[in-house]
Amino acid sequence: MTTYFTEDQSVDTVNGRMGIDAGDRAAVVMESLVRHLHSFVKDVGITQAEWGLAIDFLTRTGQICGPERQEFILLSDTLGVSMLVDAINHRRPTGATENTVFGPFHVEGAPIRQMGDDISLDGKGESCLFAGQVRDLDGHPIEGACVDVWSDNADGYYDVQQPDIQPQWNNRGRFLTGADGRYLFRGIKPTAYPIPDDGPVGQLLDRLGRHPYRPAHMHFLVTAEGCERLVTHTFVEGDSYLESDAVFGVKEALIATYDRNSDDPATAWSSQYDFVLTRGSS
Ligand code: BEZ
Ligand code: FE
Repeated sequence: MTTYFTEDQSVDTVNGRMGIDAGDRAAVVMESLVRHLHSFVKDVGITQAEWGLAIDFLTRTGQICGPERQEFILLSDTLGVSMLVDAINHRRPTGATENTVFGPFHVEGAPIRQMGDDISLDGKGESCLFAGQVRDLDGHPIEGACVDVWSDNADGYYDVQQPDIQPQWNNRGRFLTGADGRYLFRGIKPTAYPIPDDGPVGQLLDRLGRHPYRPAHMHFLVTAEGCERLVTHTFVEGDSYLESDAVFGVKEALIATYDRNSDDPATAWSSQYDFVLTRGSS
């Protein structure tokens, strides 16, 4: 077989050039990537102009990245790749709480708060009491679990998106469970919001006739000694974007009930959700 490049033998020619052990993970990954990329190019019959557009898109995606912005992850999120990678790496037994996308707005080191504290510091939105229990698959409460929560404010922005407007740590906090495994905090009923859509990914969504919205959700990162780390959200039932989440993060089991308690915005809502962790390493 010739080692010169031909259309018919493009995959073998490129993969045949690799000088690493065929069993090496990098070889397995790259051989498959080359195979699928070449197949894609042939399948759609990419034109030179289209390939140029693709290169320009990826260039701009890289150029907009910085310490505060990761457009490649956003691209992966909006193409469903983040959820797919998450799915194949977190196949959990029935009864365990499901993972979903992490998103770019988590901040390490949120204040440790007392059970019942209010994480909403800007006085906006309708108050909501969040309550539930962290337990294992056998139903035992988990003591010492860290329930790290974050959400957007009533205007649809995270504190880190509006550092000059919102108080630091607005709608964020960490809660450590006691022997009963229970958590309780006050926040606001979250609102739907668009993912950052002022860059190449936003332009792509627009070109594809897709909106950039995520259904309203509260983020949870639940960790405990000896348990697998749980990265998830609870979604607000009835949200009009549940079936068209821009990043495909919704799972039926993560849609939580929100009970309307009163007309007073200070005590308007409550939402109950239990988290079931699997044993294992984080
Ligand atoms: C979020 O829910 O915070 C999020 C997730 C993926 C992309 C953008 C935002
Ligand atoms: Fe979010």
